[in-house]
Amino acid sequence: MPLAKSYAISLIGLNGSLVEVEADISSNLPGFVIVGLPDASLSEATARVRAATVNSSLPLPNRKLTVNLSPAAIPKFGSSFDLAIAIAALRAAGTIKNQERFLYVGELGLDGSVRPVRGVLPSVLSATHLGFEKVMVPQANFAEASLVGDIEVVGVDSLSEAVARLAAGSSQRRIQVQPSHTLTDSAGESQESSLAKDVADIYGQPFAIEALKIAAAGGHHMLMIGSPGVGKTMMAERLPGLLPDLAIECALETTALHSISASRNRIGSQLVVRPPFEAPHHSASSAAMIGGGKGVPTPGLVSLAHNGVLFLDEAPEFQLPALESLRQAIESGEVTIARSAGIARFPARFQLVLAANPCPCGFAMSKKASCRCTPMARQRYLTRLSGPLLDRIDIRLRITEVNSAQVELDRKNPNRADSARLRAQIARAREAGAARNRIFGFELNAQAPTSALRAIYADKVALTATLDRALRAGQINLRGYDRCLRVALTIADLAGREVEASDIAQAMILRGEDQLGAA
Ligand SMILES: Nc1ncnc2c1ncn2[C@@H]1O[C@H](COP(=O)(O)OP(=O)(O)OP(=O)(O)O)[C@@H](O)[C@H]1O
Ligand SMILES: [Mg+2]
Ligand SMILES: [Zn+2]
Repeated sequence: MPLAKSYAISLIGLNGSLVEVEADISSNLPGFVIVGLPDASLSEATARVRAATVNSSLPLPNRKLTVNLSPAAIPKFGSSFDLAIAIAALRAAGTIKNQERFLYVGELGLDGSVRPVRGVLPSVLSATHLGFEKVMVPQANFAEASLVGDIEVVGVDSLSEAVARLAAGSSQRRIQVQPSHTLTDSAGESQESSLAKDVADIYGQPFAIEALKIAAAGGHHMLMIGSPGVGKTMMAERLPGLLPDLAIECALETTALHSISASRNRIGSQLVVRPPFEAPHHSASSAAMIGGGKGVPTPGLVSLAHNGVLFLDEAPEFQLPALESLRQAIESGEVTIARSAGIARFPARFQLVLAANPCPCGFAMSKKASCRCTPMARQRYLTRLSGPLLDRIDIRLRITEVNSAQVELDRKNPNRADSARLRAQIARAREAGAARNRIFGFELNAQAPTSALRAIYADKVALTATLDRALRAGQINLRGYDRCLRVALTIADLAGREVEASDIAQAMILRGEDQLGAA
């Protein structure tokens, strides 16, 4: 009997490896086995494929069917191999004669339907890297697969449709229409909501809005400290609305991460073009933060927030392991997760925003109420954040209550800043910064390596005099020194000129060295 083949992909993290599916029908006793390191759910493919072929009136011969997934060393899991296995089996049975080279992704229902699966976008991206020109995917994943662009995508609703498409050959290429439901799915709504929250809703607080603008323009991490009700949460929620749309490569990367996440039901979704905003509850575990999963690595919140904002409201209330787990992601811009299925590396370049009350009762900075905490409790509260994590925050802001006169004044001010205008200004500043930074191999000022800062400031010794003094006096450490240099670059980019001494002074104020110790 003939040896038949098809192709599938094994996805570990965002990385897909090619899996060759070989099917052989021999005259031994009837049976169906899959060999080549399948996991439990993949082994169940035998039952699904058997039932789906029968119910599609495409029965397999009642003989011994052996399916080999190679290379055997690559772990394989899940149900997305079903379609490829069925096609290989039907080729072995002689039902399919067409030998077109497709990569197949899809789960089979017992009734012969082709069901959507997770991770279609990274699978199709991998397929293009592996040199495939055609993929066949569940119709429900068609829109997601089509985001890739460089590859012919065929969407099918059932196994019989897949077989009909192959029987018709490539001349009968079916014209696909993007299903309309993908335009109004949940991702679309959340993308709009990041723009719905406008800084124009914030009255008073010009200093805080300026800080948000600088954070957005340079990608700087930020901490806001203030009494309950001063608007910390409100401001953090308005940061994503200040960020420009994602560039196409970033958008694909973020969409791919959301596509493989178990916590996001993004099947059939559209491209994530707005920077994501993740705001976990303070009970979140470190596994939820950095990712994990049983057997198969799945991305955590730091990766879902990739190219966007990770907001920890009431940050000192988070569990210490969860806070600590952020450090590695912040430093390297990615997380590595090892599970039995393999080692996955997930990108995790996010902008961290922390909000905190100044003390457990919250009123240590308030003019309206007095603090009931012991000096000890007050001191201990913020130190939960201190040390290495706090040290990586460029902007530390104290937010105080606005008074009613300021609110009145702002209500009547027709020229108040709004997010759309700031976003345009921020986009210009980012372009100006990137034009300078690209020579050194990075884009956002917050990502500037020390060597690049030395080079950029090499001819500006006079500017850094204040910082040098602070360094000598031990008021600031070298990391703090560099962070001020980074923020100063952003302030200059927003102003559309070279760095001046006042930018460094403003950066030092934004870093709040005096308020939280020299860390
Ligand atoms: N500057 C402001 N302009 C307009 N509204 C404001 C301002 N500050 C606070 N508010 C209003 O007060 C509400 C409470 O603000 P928010 O929840 O952001 O405070 P918070 O600092 O996060 O408080 P908590 O520490 O209790 O979480 C907001 O929903 C908003 O309506
Ligand atoms: Mg709040
Ligand atoms: Zn207190």
